[in-house]
Amino acid sequence: LLAFPAGEQSKTRETWRELTDGMLSAEYGRDAAVVALGGGVVGDLAGFVAATYLRGVPCIQVPTSLLAMIDSSVGGKTGVDTDYGKNLVGAFHQPAVVIADITTIATLPSAHVSAGMAEALKHGVIADAVYLAQLAGDAGEILERDPAALFRAVKRSVEIKAAVVSEDESERGKRATLNFGHTIAHVIEAAMDFRVLHGEAVALGMMAEADLGVAVGITAPDLPPTVREAVCSLHLPTELSTEQDGEKLLALMRQDKKGRKGAVRFALPRELGIMARGEDGSWTHKVPESEIEHILSRFA
Ligand SMILES: NC(=O)c1ccc[n+]([C@@H]2O[C@H](COP(=O)([O-])OP(=O)(O)OC[C@H]3O[C@@H](n4cnc5c(N)ncnc54)[C@H](O)[C@@H]3O)[C@@H](O)[C@H]2O)c1
Ligand SMILES: [Zn+2]
Repeated sequence: LLAFPAGEQSKTRETWRELTDGMLSAEYGRDAAVVALGGGVVGDLAGFVAATYLRGVPCIQVPTSLLAMIDSSVGGKTGVDTDYGKNLVGAFHQPAVVIADITTIATLPSAHVSAGMAEALKHGVIADAVYLAQLAGDAGEILERDPAALFRAVKRSVEIKAAVVSEDESERGKRATLNFGHTIAHVIEAAMDFRVLHGEAVALGMMAEADLGVAVGITAPDLPPTVREAVCSLHLPTELSTEQDGEKLLALMRQDKKGRKGAVRFALPRELGIMARGEDGSWTHKVPESEIEHILSRFA
């Protein structure tokens, strides 16, 4: 068993080196496999160790956080953070198997239960309006960690994510729809120096990007209130606890690595469960800077 201190600050090349050296010194051969037992940090890190160990050995993802079950253990993205940004060094390495045991959620801190559900809400918005309504209806049971309700969410979210990823593993096309809410979430996380949970930033990002979609005439006006209600039902934040510097937010947005050729692009829903496709066939949309500025001003 190789272990390391919990937390995002461990998701580094240094920990990757320690884990890899641990395996090398134990003389594990090409017939070895890595079992990633833990939350998303463990999954990303152990997955990257597996992707690179002796040029790649199988990885078995055993997610124990709700975010890892619902999102990060599926799809094959692995990697570590750098001083230049999060997840900038890594590899696509699909897990051989994913084993999620809902009963582990019993000990997960409440804020992490809600944060994990933000990604489930995202799956509903991008692919399945009925699922979104079901999540809002199940919210009470989910927050109480009712195993049946948790199971329904994990199962449907994994189905949706796996379907999108199997269509576009390397994020050249449809996989970009999974970034709904994330362009603004990344700005919020950076502005808050990561003192906000990823799922909390995603909840804020989804509401902001839904409003942005309405403002540019892509998103149906009845979508934002439905998303907001679902976000509230799962005890996710609807506003930032501290005011941010508007100029700083905009500068961070321009830096975002997902902006292609300098222009910031957004994955935007057309209506609940259906993402909007641009005229060029792309699943992301350019938005006038003035509209972005206007949306970011709500956090300032
Ligand atoms: N690869 C992907 O596609 C993808 C997608 C989304 C997020 N991520 C990554 O996932 C990470 C976040 O994952 P996370 O939210 O699981 O954070 P995490 O791994 O840091 O886990 C959160 C905390 O909960 C603890 N924990 C985990 N399972 C527990 C349990 N059953 N009971 C009690 N405590 C438990 C952890 O030790 C940690 O302190 C980020 O690094 C993010 O970049 C990756
Ligand atoms: Zn996410």
